[in-house]
Amino acid sequence: MTETSANTETAYRLVLISPDADLANTVTNAFQASKAFELQVIAKPAAEAEDVLRSLEPRILIIDLGSGGPDDLEALGACADALGAPVPTIVIAERCESALVRRMMQLRISDFIVKPIAVADLIRTCVQVLGSAGEAEKVEAEIRTFLPAAGGVGTTTLVLEAASLLNNKGLGDGKGTCVVDLNFQHGSCADYLDIDPQFDVDEIENNPERLDRQLLEVMLSTHDSGLNVIAAPHQPSELRSFKPEVVIRLLDLVSSYFENVVIDMPRIWFPWTETVLRGSDKLYVVADMTVPCIRNAERLVRAIERQVAPEAKPGVIVNRFEQKMFDGGLKRADLDGVLKDSFLGGVSNNYPLVREAVDRGVPLQSVKPNSNISTDLADILFAGQADEVREKKSLLGFLSKKPKRAA
Ligand SMILES: Nc1ncnc2c1ncn2[C@@H]1O[C@H](COP(=O)(O)OP(=O)(O)OP(=O)(O)O)[C@@H](O)[C@H]1O
Ligand SMILES: [Mg+2]
Repeated sequence: MTETSANTETAYRLVLISPDADLANTVTNAFQASKAFELQVIAKPAAEAEDVLRSLEPRILIIDLGSGGPDDLEALGACADALGAPVPTIVIAERCESALVRRMMQLRISDFIVKPIAVADLIRTCVQVLGSAGEAEKVEAEIRTFLPAAGGVGTTTLVLEAASLLNNKGLGDGKGTCVVDLNFQHGSCADYLDIDPQFDVDEIENNPERLDRQLLEVMLSTHDSGLNVIAAPHQPSELRSFKPEVVIRLLDLVSSYFENVVIDMPRIWFPWTETVLRGSDKLYVVADMTVPCIRNAERLVRAIERQVAPEAKPGVIVNRFEQKMFDGGLKRADLDGVLKDSFLGGVSNNYPLVREAVDRGVPLQSVKPNSNISTDLADILFAGQADEVREKKSLLGFLSKKPKRAA
């Protein structure tokens, strides 16, 4: 059973699958006056919509998945199969469980909206989805994520230096590099660069769809060196988690506007951690040169490979690396033995340089270009990239990104 609202012959056909009469009415009213969109409603649950859907040729599919339970997830896959060719799809659900997020990533869903929907958001999302499909040839951000194997190993230092190196190496298309500090409670990216953190999680927490390009610009801090930083003001007394939607929305948006995104991850495993790891192109576990930390790094790498994304291959960077450790200390051969292929390389120990950079609020490169830390890190980041032709990726968004192997 389908109902059609409006429109012109040249309108884009939207198909909404929803057994929820109120939602169908709201969406029908929203698009009634639109000359750009022609809406067809399949007033059935997604599990029963497959046959009708096959006969339609939607330009955009909107599926109401209700509670997003196992049957709904199966129905989502069946609808995607029924269409044959990939069609930009927006999912509406009552909540965003991790199983749903996982399935949406696998199916390359363009966007999702949590009920109750705001009509303006749905219209804007449809317009963005069409715009994104038209811009499919653009290069999307390369997302590099740094995870600590222990506290204080130098993750933030390496994140900022990596971002600075990438920014200097930019393709010159003006899109630049953005550091995202996901240590929302007590991140130090903004402190190390002596800039004011502007990202107000509270303002968007209950309505992540509100976060658009304009709001992002307000919440972005820019350093004199040209680096862009998303960091939240410290909330040391408040230990709380943030909804996965906030993080996903943020990374989706940031990855559409920047050439490079470098993420500083917290040590604690949050409900959104796996999604971030899966959406990253390269994963770097940062360790220092102590036995417990190297063991932790090895465990973390195996856990990510086993549980998060079997095809992802996180690599380990050993910070404050010394070739000749004192007797009884770790040696390079020990690292190779424990970490095997996942050992990407060491970054030199140079405390005076790091300390001067932090005290002056500048990247290491501004204190000393081509320092041992910069060259070590550049070797790791750009290993094997000399002849690499940059792959053009679809702009379907962060959710559509597939994990890649670390360099
Ligand atoms: N390559 C290095 N050589 C010498 N000192 C370093 C190096 N990298 C980091 N440090 C120093 O180590 C300390 C911790 O660095 P940093 O804050 O980057 O670590 P972190 O892993 O982000 O810490 P946290 O767990 O608090 O987030 C700092 O004092 C920093 O100056
Ligand atoms: Mg840190």
